[in-house]
Amino acid sequence: MRIDILTLFPEMFEGVLGCSILKRAIDRQYLEVHTHNIRDYTYDKHHRADDYPFGGGAGMVMMVEPIARCIEQLQSERTYDAIYLMAPDGQQFNQHKANSMSMLQNIILLCGHYKGVDERVRELYITEDLSIGDYVLSGGELAAMVITDALARVIPGVISDGTSALTDSFQDDLLSAPVYTRPADFRGHRVPDVLLSGNDKLIADWKMEQRLKRTQERRPDLLHNEE
Ligand code: ADE
Repeated sequence: MRIDILTLFPEMFEGVLGCSILKRAIDRQYLEVHTHNIRDYTYDKHHRADDYPFGGGAGMVMMVEPIARCIEQLQSERTYDAIYLMAPDGQQFNQHKANSMSMLQNIILLCGHYKGVDERVRELYITEDLSIGDYVLSGGELAAMVITDALARVIPGVISDGTSALTDSFQDDLLSAPVYTRPADFRGHRVPDVLLSGNDKLIADWKMEQRLKRTQERRPDLLHNEE
């Protein structure tokens, strides 16, 4: 899978793409991520990527032209399955969305900033707006990082333990069971005996019980999720 990220702050991505599972996914060529500075597609000498809103109002608006040039340059090089705009008023990103997006070959994530993006960008290029939650970030960069990470970990092969991504919380609308490692006794707080029993069937039953209990207690809405 290839992800092209259009942003005013490509340097924000360096740390995230250079660590942990994302780094491994990229090194092992399961995933290609390319960042593009929208400012490189401006023509004026001040490299303006934003301007005042027509009709007045607070904040600046990201201009259509540099974004259009950047997208069209990429589209001249390959076909994109979808172009997503990171926006707080977008569709809620979730595990189902991550799973389906991870099947795509080439996608673009456009990071919005300031007061928003000229509406003509949406009309002309955007397949879908995506939000990572009901709060407003300073820009779409963190959202694009969240989405890139969530996609990478469900690409088959990226996580070495083949079943690990599938038992993530939310993967089947259940939260994960609690996990423990050594020591078996920490200041009198003991690991549940069943996990030390060596009985696979009992352990599997216990885990499922815990998952149902946790989901019921913390996120009962997931148990009635029709999606
Ligand atoms: N940009 C600003 N806030 C955002 C959010 N919650 N999700 C996606 N993009 C955003």
